[in-house]
Amino acid sequence: MPGLQSSPTGPLSGVAAVPGDKSISHRALILGALSVGETRITGLLESEDVLATATALNTFGAQAIHEDDGKWRVFGRGVGGLSEPSGVLDMGNSGTAARLLMGVSATLPFNTTFSGDASLSKRPMERAMIPLRQMGAQFTARDGGCLPITVSGAQAPIPITYELPMASAQVKTAVLLAGLNTPGLTTVIEPQPTRDHSERMLAHFGAEVVVEDTPDGGRRISLTGQPELTGHGVTVPGDFSSAAFPMVAALLAPKSRITLSGVGINPLRTGLLETLLEMGASIGVENRRSLSGEEAADLVVESSALKGITVSPSRAPSMIDEYPVLAVAAALAEGETRLEGLAELRVKESDRLGAMAKGLAAAGVDVTETEDSLTIRGGGAKHPGGVQIEAHLDHRIAMAFLVLGLATERLISIDDAATIDSSFPGFAALMNGLGADIKECP
Ligand code: S3P
Repeated sequence: MPGLQSSPTGPLSGVAAVPGDKSISHRALILGALSVGETRITGLLESEDVLATATALNTFGAQAIHEDDGKWRVFGRGVGGLSEPSGVLDMGNSGTAARLLMGVSATLPFNTTFSGDASLSKRPMERAMIPLRQMGAQFTARDGGCLPITVSGAQAPIPITYELPMASAQVKTAVLLAGLNTPGLTTVIEPQPTRDHSERMLAHFGAEVVVEDTPDGGRRISLTGQPELTGHGVTVPGDFSSAAFPMVAALLAPKSRITLSGVGINPLRTGLLETLLEMGASIGVENRRSLSGEEAADLVVESSALKGITVSPSRAPSMIDEYPVLAVAAALAEGETRLEGLAELRVKESDRLGAMAKGLAAAGVDVTETEDSLTIRGGGAKHPGGVQIEAHLDHRIAMAFLVLGLATERLISIDDAATIDSSFPGFAALMNGLGADIKECP
């Protein structure tokens, strides 16, 4: 697939609905497959990452089916009811698919092999294997604990109490999913609260989950094993992490006003909203409503003069996927923005810290990178642009630089547009519908 380029644009306006939440979509399919009966999902994100999970669940013997009306139906096999896959499960680009399904397979008494693309095959999986080994699973991994990985699921799973060494909703969820097919109480303690979609959805499907705050600001999540989960309806809200791109684009393009309807606003996901408001953004949160245990709203975004701020490490878990586009907002803000506590960004779909620093500098932005921080001196004026950026198989790097290209002197192109389909199919069409100018490179 050719690259895409974005050119300086006029005002953005109109109403758009971003596709469904990626994290919630993976979880809805997985819990549907582990339930008894039928789960009907409205608004599932049909992106490559989520389809990797759906395909894998079908190979495990569940049935996840796309209906003509756009809904998905999942016929589950019950907790512990999945059967041995006939081949290797290809997780594509998706860390969430890989780590969550490793959790599921850790307590299924057979071998499951996972592979991934070049990006995913470099990402650390040991962080998920450590607790899953304690539960009785065994692993054969490539050097460095990377994919391809074969999981030999525990014959007699052991419940554990596991304290996460890093803030990771994927590792937390891997342990909880393994805990579903384990007798007794499985407990995860997290140093800082991370997205709690799993906890909410487990409760929605009938599991007993107790969530408590710890004295030092973390959370303790306990799950009673071997529940009978029953199929449920799930309505997936729009993905806040996808909404972040048109949101920042509208803030930066003068005289813009857009409405992003039905976006998930789980407070453990909306760190970018708080940060942008602190930077002086005009973003209204309207029509709050509840969807299958999650909160959603319409976000009304107007162009705003942003000012630089310091974003502390404590903000990172609630906006971990939004730093690339925040760095773009910072590049156009008046003054210095300092983003701290970003070590986890180095092990995402790409080294996002390095990719942002390099790409912003190439586009003419004054930026300093350290091991775990990024400092951007915006100047409040347009940057030259006129560069091609490597996407590094990273959808969010690709989209962030396309947003920057709407506000630079000359266009910005990205070398690989296909990667955007991991999380945001239809990105260019949605942006252009609001008035952006994003098209295939000649
Ligand atoms: C996710 C958790 C986060 C996030 C990822 C989705 C999830 O990863 O970056 O895009 O759905 O649980 P980590 O758990 O590695 O922080």
